[in-house]
Amino acid sequence: MLKLAGQIDEAVAGIRRQYQRRPRVAIILGSGLGGLADEIDPAIAFAYSDLPHFPRSTAIGHRGRLVCGRLADVEVVAMQGRFHSYEGYSQQQITFPVRVMKALGAETLIVTNAAGGVNPHYRAGDLMVIDDQINLMFDNPLIGVNDDRLGPRFPDMSQPYCAQLQQTALAAARKHGIVAHRGVYLAVKGPNYEPRAEYRFYRQIGADAVGMSTVPEVIVAAHASMRVLGISVISNACSPEALSETSGEQVVQVAAVAGVKLRKIVLDVLPTLAV
Ligand code: HPA
Repeated sequence: MLKLAGQIDEAVAGIRRQYQRRPRVAIILGSGLGGLADEIDPAIAFAYSDLPHFPRSTAIGHRGRLVCGRLADVEVVAMQGRFHSYEGYSQQQITFPVRVMKALGAETLIVTNAAGGVNPHYRAGDLMVIDDQINLMFDNPLIGVNDDRLGPRFPDMSQPYCAQLQQTALAAARKHGIVAHRGVYLAVKGPNYEPRAEYRFYRQIGADAVGMSTVPEVIVAAHASMRVLGISVISNACSPEALSETSGEQVVQVAAVAGVKLRKIVLDVLPTLAV
């Protein structure tokens, strides 16, 4: 991890040549949810391929740009598309942008994703405000020599998702008449969707939703002492007793439709983070 600080500095320097302001909030837009970044205005956008040490986005529904500018009157830096373990990247690589966004000045991270709902009460198109997480990736972005400048060797995870931001997001959902649950997100590496026995297992060990992202990013955010709000769009209901087929295209399509709800909530939460 000791090389990491130098790489972060190089990426920040690359961004700073064109963008000098200090973003308050970092946003990660998941599968099919990138549309929100198009509302940033005025915006300075960087293709990941132009930024030092950034991997390339290869997943469907992920544009592959870092967009800096104002959204709901708040200075933000947004990832339009993220990186996943299943693309073959290390956990350090997929979380590198979180380090960079923190180094630019963002103290809060809003992380979004599309996820399968293993809670039998969840329907495709619902939202879930993430309350806690389970790491079933059998990997961790903090493995290696710890760089104490970036965070502690053993970061606390007693409350990885800010309780106050959860309340704000749930209140915004209520105001707009949007169905939003509060639940536990479980991460696997993927890339396959799961057989019934695995969905059943995830439910039994306390998950409400399952996906292939977010957990490494939130571990790094905790390491970097960032405040985190996480919102899942339930793209497919995967109760093991009534499981139907799932495809990547379907996940992206449902997420894009439900993204309208997510947009309303994020635009309501952002102004509360401006101070
Ligand atoms: N499983 C894992 N990841 C997912 C799913 C799922 O059912 N839906 C969207 N991402």
